[in-house]
Amino acid sequence: MPDTITITDDRTGKTVTVPIEGGVFPASAVRELDPSLFIYDPAYMQTAACKSAITFLDGEAGILRYRGYPIEQLAERSTYLEVAYLLLNGELPNAAQLAQWQSDVTSHTFIHENMRKRFVDGFHYDAHPMGMLVSSLAALGTFYNDAKDIDSKPSRDKQILRLIAKTPTLAAMCYRFSVGLPFVYPSNDLSFPANFLNMMWKVGDYQVDPRLERAMDVLFILHADHEQNCGTTAMRVVGSSHADPYTSAAAAASALYGPLHGGANEAVVRMLTEIGHIDNVPAFIEDVKSGKGSRLMGFGHRVYKNFDPRATIIKKTAYEVFEVTGKNPLLDIALKLEEVALSDPYFIDRKLYPNVDFYSGLIYQALGFPVAMFTVLFAIPRTAGWLAHWQELLGDKEQKISRPRQWYTGTDAREYVPLVAR
Ligand code: SDX
Repeated sequence: MPDTITITDDRTGKTVTVPIEGGVFPASAVRELDPSLFIYDPAYMQTAACKSAITFLDGEAGILRYRGYPIEQLAERSTYLEVAYLLLNGELPNAAQLAQWQSDVTSHTFIHENMRKRFVDGFHYDAHPMGMLVSSLAALGTFYNDAKDIDSKPSRDKQILRLIAKTPTLAAMCYRFSVGLPFVYPSNDLSFPANFLNMMWKVGDYQVDPRLERAMDVLFILHADHEQNCGTTAMRVVGSSHADPYTSAAAAASALYGPLHGGANEAVVRMLTEIGHIDNVPAFIEDVKSGKGSRLMGFGHRVYKNFDPRATIIKKTAYEVFEVTGKNPLLDIALKLEEVALSDPYFIDRKLYPNVDFYSGLIYQALGFPVAMFTVLFAIPRTAGWLAHWQELLGDKEQKISRPRQWYTGTDAREYVPLVAR
């Protein structure tokens, strides 16, 4: 059988046959049949909006690969900075390239003093750190007017470096502001994850525990990219208008903030806290199934209809962290929820499994992060993925400004009615 698809417009009898390649066929087939005809696909459920060579997902098999490397091997053997290099450049760095990359990132971790002294002080004392991060990413761009030169690769590379290096500094700044602690400057003698933990927690002679440093790095690796998720799609849509990468990243972070997306890790811990005890799990599950209660946050995924491979790795990492920090008491409730849900037809029929957010919040809470910081912890590593897709978009000759069409369901033309007659 040929790898083609034939579409016939029964209104005209006109037929078009187009190739199926890489699991997709061109929507131009529809344009050939009738330029005024559009495919209706709310939320892009069945639409490939771009070509990409960065991340591969197989939702049925629960497979996730960055540039062909299985996430399980990267989580076990790589570091976040090495993975960021891989996502951006397509290949693992050799020793010299990695050393240069680490040195470049380390020497770009500082932010302009005006961000720390004036900008952040403008927030209300109880501002949500994610709202602060979204604003800070856009504000950061105002310090680098060369960022608008998106056609220059040296300029793009410089902004990519600045964003990857400075996002942890911005994140820690938001936290320290929210708890009224003095800002901790980046330390050039620490690794990427250790420097972040130091900027977050340093009071007195704080020393980063290497086991927690490694756990943070693994979590950063697992969250670095995930194909065309909502936040990355926002990065691509805004980037397609040739907005600068800081403004595009602020849009991506805004999408990530939503509780159905990156905000789910925060929602999971609030849900577990509300359940309060494993004895309350069956009643909670019934509420979810009846539609009366909230959704089972941390469960379900648009692509994964099997276990999210990241959830499996995070669950293992949780036990390693708890050896250092002590077990998070919410773990028992999470394990009971998972056990009950995975044996209940409601969830089985809908192929709802734990996703990346189900266990990550338990680790973050055990590490001492306030719940409001959880999505910020997602945004730090996802910056690498957003930027890898941004540069891929700008290099794709088939891409233009994103501008989908619609199915108009409004009224036909009508005459203006004067106020006195309404
Ligand atoms: C992330 O896209 C990505 O890659 C995202 C991400 C990344 O790395 O970028 O992986 C990160 O966002 C993970 C997802 C985190 N969100 C949550 O945990 C929130 C809870 N989950 C859902 O709201 C939901 O599962 C989504 C948003 C994740 C996916 O939703 P879909 O694909 O749009 O599925 P749907 O809403 O159409 O649900 C299908 C059915 C519905 O039931 P019916 O109407 O058919 O009866 O499943 C039900 C839903 O009601 N359902 C759930 C559920 N998720 C879906 N029911 C209870 N609890 C849930 N969590």
